[in-house]
Amino acid sequence: MKMPMNSRTIITGTGHYVPPRVVTNQDLEKLMDTSDEWIRERSGIVERHHIDGRVGTSDLAVEAARRAIADAKIEPSSIDFVVAATLSPDHYFPGIGVLVQAKLGLGTIGALDVRNQCSGFIYALSAADQYIRAGTYKRILLVAAEVQSTNLDFSDQGRDMSVLFGDGAGAVILEPNGEDDGRGILSTHLFSDGRFAAHLWMEKPCPMDNPTFQRGFFDEGRFFPRMDGRNVFVNACQRMPEAVRAGLEANGLTVDDIDALIPHQANDRISLMVAKGLKIPVEKVVRNIQRFGNTTAASIPIALDEALKDGRIKRGNLVALTAFGSGYTWASAFIRW
Ligand code: UT7
Repeated sequence: MKMPMNSRTIITGTGHYVPPRVVTNQDLEKLMDTSDEWIRERSGIVERHHIDGRVGTSDLAVEAARRAIADAKIEPSSIDFVVAATLSPDHYFPGIGVLVQAKLGLGTIGALDVRNQCSGFIYALSAADQYIRAGTYKRILLVAAEVQSTNLDFSDQGRDMSVLFGDGAGAVILEPNGEDDGRGILSTHLFSDGRFAAHLWMEKPCPMDNPTFQRGFFDEGRFFPRMDGRNVFVNACQRMPEAVRAGLEANGLTVDDIDALIPHQANDRISLMVAKGLKIPVEKVVRNIQRFGNTTAASIPIALDEALKDGRIKRGNLVALTAFGSGYTWASAFIRW
């Protein structure tokens, strides 16, 4: 949906955090039948970060949030709502929203958890944007974070997935734009097709099973995430451009108007196919999967923070975000910086 200009939401601070431990493709070669060459050629990934010891997704989220808060130059106490996106919460329940809220000492403000996997950041951004434009909240902390490394199948059977994913977090601060200067979120477009749920999922634990946790499922490796990689690949290459075109059309813009495209960092080949499908010059595409792998909900805010800090995104730029992932879900957001 297109937003009226006088009430747009702006991003006033960004931050990201990845755990210090770097895991290279060579490290993974020691665990399974894979190679640096295969991983680079098929995904573009060179290294990713994995947590060490007992670190939760909420811990990464809190570090990213602290950096976004510092970047926005605000007091944490001025935040009036938290939105948190992850597919890898610290616990089965509650979600990480309340844990982030408590660890940052944010009193009793509300905390919403968003479960839209790789599209989680844009879904969360869309929800936060509605709250801001409605006047419900004035300053929202949006965090997206993942710890994938503790539940990947590092045997040969799981090599298609386990080489792709990394741990990390990104955060943004959202506020209403007090000025009529055109800056802010122009649109968000959200899509899903649940018929494809089983093509990219973590099947177990499943409360329909009684009991939910069964040794047999464990022995069969059904507590690990699984995917039909080719089907995900084809759909991601098709759906992300569709979502971007929906945003362009709603805003009366053309592809040439886009200054920076930040696709979810799923696979560098997918990012390049999305650019090709949209006929966007590759120089305009923000790509950092080489260093982080696929950090699911966190990938877009990490890339956004990097692109802002290194000057690739400047005041006045049109920034397009797009994502595709488990659900299937896919989405786009357009932001005038
Ligand atoms: O955020 C959304 C989450 N997921 C994605 O975005 C993933 C989307 N899919 C992909 O990125 C790609 O499909 C993969 C990177 C997962 C796989 O690349 P591909 O070019 O589609 O390879 P493939 O699945 O067609 O597999 C080719 C071969 C297979 O061997 P055979 O059957 O040809 O003998 C695989 O068993 O590569 C093998 N293979 C591996 N070899 C070495 C699969 N994973 C690996 C691996 N190392 N890690």
